[in-house]
Amino acid sequence: MPLSQRFTLTRYLIEQRRRFPDASGDFNALILDVALACKAIARAVAFGELGIAASQQGGDLGGNLNVQGETQKPLDVISNQVFTRMNEWGGHCAGMVSEEMDGVYQIPSQHPRGKYLLVFDPLDGSSNIDVNVSVGSIFSVLRASQDVVESGRDVTEADFLQPGTQQVAAGYALYGPTTMLVLSVGDGVAGFTLDPNLGEFMLTHPRFRVPADAQEFAINASNSRFWEAPIKRYVDECLAGKTGPRGKDFNMRWIASMVAEAHRILTRGGVFMYPSDTKDASKPGRLRLLYEANPIGFIMEQAGGRASTGRHPILGVHPTSLHQRIGLVFGSKNEVECIERYYTEPTKIELNSPLFAERSLFHD
Ligand code: F6P
Repeated sequence: MPLSQRFTLTRYLIEQRRRFPDASGDFNALILDVALACKAIARAVAFGELGIAASQQGGDLGGNLNVQGETQKPLDVISNQVFTRMNEWGGHCAGMVSEEMDGVYQIPSQHPRGKYLLVFDPLDGSSNIDVNVSVGSIFSVLRASQDVVESGRDVTEADFLQPGTQQVAAGYALYGPTTMLVLSVGDGVAGFTLDPNLGEFMLTHPRFRVPADAQEFAINASNSRFWEAPIKRYVDECLAGKTGPRGKDFNMRWIASMVAEAHRILTRGGVFMYPSDTKDASKPGRLRLLYEANPIGFIMEQAGGRASTGRHPILGVHPTSLHQRIGLVFGSKNEVECIERYYTEPTKIELNSPLFAERSLFHD
């Protein structure tokens, strides 16, 4: 399509806004600030060591443990600063929560406060930075309560503990061979590719649809001994392929960068699983509900896919803390529903399972 016929992200937002004649424009301004943050992070990621070396002249970045107990990389710190700085000044946000900050981020007093809450993981999959594999940013927009908006008071943790069904918008940026912004404002899912010449996100994927059926799954199989029985059964049946109960062969992928996996699934279907397991009793799952599971769940559901804990739809879960972890399964609707069904059925691990029996993939 010639450039002259392409839509920018700005045009997409303006046309979406026409559905709400009373809208103030704050929401669009917020999304454009988020998009600007993503462009800045895309540049920082693209410069890799060159960029980090330059920033470190001004002092050390990273090396600290974040609230998750994970070592922050310089790009984690830079990305978090970019997100907070670009979204704190415009008067659209009442407060923010980030994977990289223990508590709620208050809008500094010199800036006006707004009616939205922004929740984000500024750099997801950051263990992939050193190996030059795709990473991304994930964000979720919630409404601040009337009381917050009217009083302009500091926001608290409780203000953010809203189920995923309350999200006004969610999306992610993927820093891969091309930079993409994938966004849902509650009317399907649109994908924008960053035009490096113009520095603009251009609408390239007007309506993502996740195919209902799939033959590809993604899971960190090194955790297989900790999985719950329904997940063992599902993976086992996928591995059994044509000769097993599913009657078809499956392919497997694991990028260890959820944004990249979500994008693959949005594009061609599949299922992603990071279920709750017995590996560490203090962690009921690996992924974080507010800024990983909920926004990706919203995107999947808006694209006709499904997202679940295995037991319940992810978007219905009432959060109990900012950095709460949760088991997550998402992707092609029929596959996710199959896993949910296995959670409701009594499971027996087949003795001739290729995964768990004597002659299996993971046993000698
Ligand atoms: O922080 C989340 C994350 O990096 C996801 O992007 C990814 O899916 C997962 O962790 C990778 O986990 P693991 O290290 O177990 O493969």
